Amino acid sequence: MTAASALQGQAADDRAAVVTVEGGGSFVQGAGDASLLQAALRGGLGLPYECSSGGCGSCRIQVVEGEVESLWPEAPGLSPRDRRKGLQLACQTRACGNATIKVTLDGHCVPKVPPRVMHLTLVSARDLTRDIREFRFAAPGPAEFIAGQYAILRLPDGLRRCYSMSNLPNAEGYWEFQIKRVPGGKASNGLFDMAPGAVIGLDGPYGLAHLVAESARPVVCIAGGSGLAPMVSIARAVGADPARQLDFFYGGRTAADVCGEAHLAGLPGFGDTLRYHPVVSSLDDPLSAGWTGLSGFVHEVVGRHQGDRLREAEIYFAGPPPMAEALQRLLMLDLKVPFGQIHYDRFF
Ligand SMILES: Cc1cc2nc3c(=O)[nH]c(=O)nc-3n(C[C@H](O)[C@H](O)[C@H](O)COP(=O)(O)OP(=O)(O)OC[C@H]3O[C@@H](n4cnc5c(N)ncnc54)[C@H](O)[C@@H]3O)c2cc1C
Ligand code: FES
Repeated sequence: MTAASALQGQAADDRAAVVTVEGGGSFVQGAGDASLLQAALRGGLGLPYECSSGGCGSCRIQVVEGEVESLWPEAPGLSPRDRRKGLQLACQTRACGNATIKVTLDGHCVPKVPPRVMHLTLVSARDLTRDIREFRFAAPGPAEFIAGQYAILRLPDGLRRCYSMSNLPNAEGYWEFQIKRVPGGKASNGLFDMAPGAVIGLDGPYGLAHLVAESARPVVCIAGGSGLAPMVSIARAVGADPARQLDFFYGGRTAADVCGEAHLAGLPGFGDTLRYHPVVSSLDDPLSAGWTGLSGFVHEVVGRHQGDRLREAEIYFAGPPPMAEALQRLLMLDLKVPFGQIHYDRFF
């Protein structure tokens, strides 16, 4: 992939389209914008969203006027009822020309760090487990994002996938990701096949489940499987304050899948104010032989281990949708943790 094609992400004959939000301003969808959602956020409008991946349905819009194209007509974020009502997912739709859409904007979704499109060069990669690899890319300018956010990586064959940063923002322009190889997965396997020097595109940062810098509450980070990266980034940001309690739970299927401790071990307060709790769910798997630590589903362990203390904490979690949904039920319904203290990304 050349740097130019990595950046472009769509056809060269793209023309700018002006998109008006009924009762809420307008934005321009340009050649660098993969979707209406990305164009709106880049234009400083708070179009509601979560995953940018077509999975969650948070970015549903009604197209009132103008022609649009769907980038993924079967995206699971739209229910049959949504489709009957003619709704579209802003993250999977592009305007073919000027258009008017209907959506209730939300000031909380206005990006705190303006998303940009740039090219990245792979510098190095190293295995963390049998199927999670950490990638380090370099960009020409500073890497600007908030701990816990993600970027959309633009890969060969027009593939776009979201990956969370595991490092901290930095002036040197390094972007680090911890990516799980999905059996048969197009993007993850493509990334695992890349050698240093490979060039891809990045569009970001995005995501609302980022560190709340102004909070002094104790922190609980919960990562399942591929959800390690944003939790490591948040722990790195919080770990700089050894006076703040941080409990970090990592749930892996077998003992061989457990990781993350090495990333935390060098942080101030490790073993004291910063505590790492690995959890294994499949004790009967031969790869868990000899495991004597915490076991069960990570959300159950968090509930048992932290209990009512969760109501006082700022809670961050990331991982597969079933884990995230079990945690939502535990925190919101069972423990009645105030919604404002719960920050999560579901990895569709
Ligand atoms: C906010 C967020 C952050 C994430 N962070 C991480 C991370 O840090 N580490 C990590 O390992 N994974 C992360 N993921 C998951 C990652 O984005 C990929 O879903 C995963 O790597 C599997 O991709 P794949 O192409 O290998 O698998 P595939 O099975 O080829 O693709 C699966 C995913 O691709 C998308 N998709 C499928 N078909 C289409 C289509 N036609 N058009 C558009 N999209 C399509 C869907 O999101 C689907 O879940 C994150 C996901 C989200 C939403
Ligand atoms: S943000 Fe569009 S479906 Fe999740």
